[in-house]
Amino acid sequence: MTNPTDPQVAHWHGFTQMSDHDSLVIEKGDGCWLTTTDGRRLFDGVSSLWCNVHGHRNPKLDAAIREQLDRVAHVTTLGMSCETTERLARRLAEITPGDLSHVFFSSDGSSAVEAALKMAFQYWQQREDPRPEKTNYLALGSAYHGDTTGAVSLGGIEYFHKLFAPILFSPVRGPVPCSYRLPPGVTSDPLQHYADEIESLLHQHHGQLAAVVMEPLVQGAAGMITHPRGLLGKVRKLCDRYDVLLICDEVATGFGRTGKMFACDHESVTPDILCIGKGLTGGYLPMAATVARPHVFDAFLAPVSESRQFFHGHTFGGNPLAAAAALASIELLEESALLDRVSERGQRLRDRLSDALANHPNVGDIRGRGMMIGIELVADRSNQEPFSSALQVGRLVCRRTVKNGVWIRPLGDVIILMPPLIATEKELDMFADVVIESVDAELATLSKQQSVSLLTRE
Ligand SMILES: Cc1ncc(COP(=O)(O)O)c(C=O)c1O
Repeated sequence: MTNPTDPQVAHWHGFTQMSDHDSLVIEKGDGCWLTTTDGRRLFDGVSSLWCNVHGHRNPKLDAAIREQLDRVAHVTTLGMSCETTERLARRLAEITPGDLSHVFFSSDGSSAVEAALKMAFQYWQQREDPRPEKTNYLALGSAYHGDTTGAVSLGGIEYFHKLFAPILFSPVRGPVPCSYRLPPGVTSDPLQHYADEIESLLHQHHGQLAAVVMEPLVQGAAGMITHPRGLLGKVRKLCDRYDVLLICDEVATGFGRTGKMFACDHESVTPDILCIGKGLTGGYLPMAATVARPHVFDAFLAPVSESRQFFHGHTFGGNPLAAAAALASIELLEESALLDRVSERGQRLRDRLSDALANHPNVGDIRGRGMMIGIELVADRSNQEPFSSALQVGRLVCRRTVKNGVWIRPLGDVIILMPPLIATEKELDMFADVVIESVDAELATLSKQQSVSLLTRE
């Protein structure tokens, strides 16, 4: 039992075993670096949970928020709005793919997904030619869309989601479109295999499906599962053929992470509904949004007496301080050559990791797109056998990187690298070197311990 008066446990952290919790308290940040209260400097290798696109204390973002603070910090968006938020909505309509043009604000990624689910449902109930039986969703295997109950229902990561099964709805579950672990019997063209599987599910269930929900290109929380190129485009076509909406969750992939403003841009896909969050404000303030195309929005228009408005709304949705940060962040992304550099620097980082680790017997895969990279550690590279979860290999590696000045947080045994997009080549080289050294050293220690324990057993 923890001591309730221990100041270390007053703050209950998410996804953290509080009985074995390393306290790391940050006092300040600048650029890609964080400084702890005891004076240690750490490279922020996961952009403070995949958010801080421009790093910390960017002068332009800081100034935008200060300036907004001198005008107004918060007004509701139920029945009124703020000029800054209005400008942001118009800006998002311009930069999101295709004719996505109606922006519904919330405060975090999970809420953006909840809004998308309800929006899709309500759309089918009340469009001109209603289809009230379309009440379910198709979600991919190992999906992660957040931690609220609807988002968890879509989730397909057993470790996170299974416990809550009794309180969840049941989507139609699609494949895990992984390019590393292929389904039995599939040796070539996984793209066609996964597309066929999704098509067969749509063929069977389309009459009940409101939407397909997917993270485009890379499933981050599943361990940077990277889809075969072309899958997103195929799913878009299938959704059109089977008259099912496509919801793309770009909470993790949006705002430059994959090398373009949105992952959907890589395959010129326009989803019917887009969810964004995390990097929207440059990672400065909590803000998310659900962006809809006109045909979705139009289904909600009617005389007031018909009660067709979207029955959803968040207290802090569209908060002006967050909107000011978002406008400044988008400007920074567009005016600098940052986006062009992301693919190139991400590739350079992956190459450096591959040169050092690709033949390591315990490195199964190094994957990702742009600055979204995962290194999967396995017990046996030849057959992709995972380590026993009791060994906590990913955690040990990350503990070691922290000792060496790099803050990262694993997903199981996948080491996640999501640095701020502004990281310089020098910083990225240092980042790679620390990760490589930590993987090498921890796996060497583990292998030594395992041979000792085998010898003692013999
Ligand atoms: C793809 C995706 N969707 C939704 C979420 C949930 O976002 P939030 O933690 O802001 O609720 C996340 C968070 O990691 C995510 O990666």
